[in-house]
Amino acid sequence: MKLPKDNLEIYDNPQELAWAAASRFASLAEQSIAERGTFSVALSGGSTPKAMFSRLAQSPFAASLPWSEIQFFWGDERCVAPDHPDSNFRMTMETLLSKVAVSPEKIFRIPAEDDDHHRAAERYATTLRQTFNSEAPQFDLVFLGMGADGHTASLFPGTKALQATDQIVVANFVEKLNSWRITLTAKTINDARNVLFLVAGEDKAATLRDVLEGQYQPEIYPSQLIQPADGSLLWMLDEAATGLLSGDNAG
Ligand code: 6PG
Repeated sequence: MKLPKDNLEIYDNPQELAWAAASRFASLAEQSIAERGTFSVALSGGSTPKAMFSRLAQSPFAASLPWSEIQFFWGDERCVAPDHPDSNFRMTMETLLSKVAVSPEKIFRIPAEDDDHHRAAERYATTLRQTFNSEAPQFDLVFLGMGADGHTASLFPGTKALQATDQIVVANFVEKLNSWRITLTAKTINDARNVLFLVAGEDKAATLRDVLEGQYQPEIYPSQLIQPADGSLLWMLDEAATGLLSGDNAG
């Protein structure tokens, strides 16, 4: 897989990456609201997205963004209650959504506490179909992190969700974590208008090289499945994560 250079942005450190990602969120929100009157975003778990949420909760973004116009969704969730320390919803509420003037009725969390994980996925798919009034929901923006094993959202290597091409959302059992996750499928992510990967840290460097410059092996590196059909794809990286990229792509 070879990504054109203009799909990559490289920042000196995680703080600059968080600032740039927050700025991008702000400009996409303004543009989308001006064009379509709304902005739908799917948020992610993970430490790199979390740093960006904290940045958005500060000046100048906290006071200047049209928060009440934004619809918030999640790209994936751990199968726990919304107040559990592992919950992506809880993390986002604590770092961002409780600190800015969002409309509570525009927060659409994944009902991942449902013991029937497949039903939880179907319930979220129904929420998406109804909110977007479409069988193929199109997010304005999907934020993604990438794990050191190449997973993104809860699309983990070798798991069943990688084969889900007809569904919007699926429940995915992840053997190495011995736990269930609920995740958007690659198809739903690829239908988005904008997809933004946030990746930081030296521990991601080898996987990032394999994902961006190695052979196409999505069973091993699910992040390679993410190639929006008509939307734009941007990888926002810190310098440490790019340490093993070839001269063409390195910062
Ligand atoms: C989650 C995620 C997951 C995450 C990556 C990267 O719920 O864990 O949505 O896909 O974004 O694992 O996480 P880090 O940025 O912490 O490495």
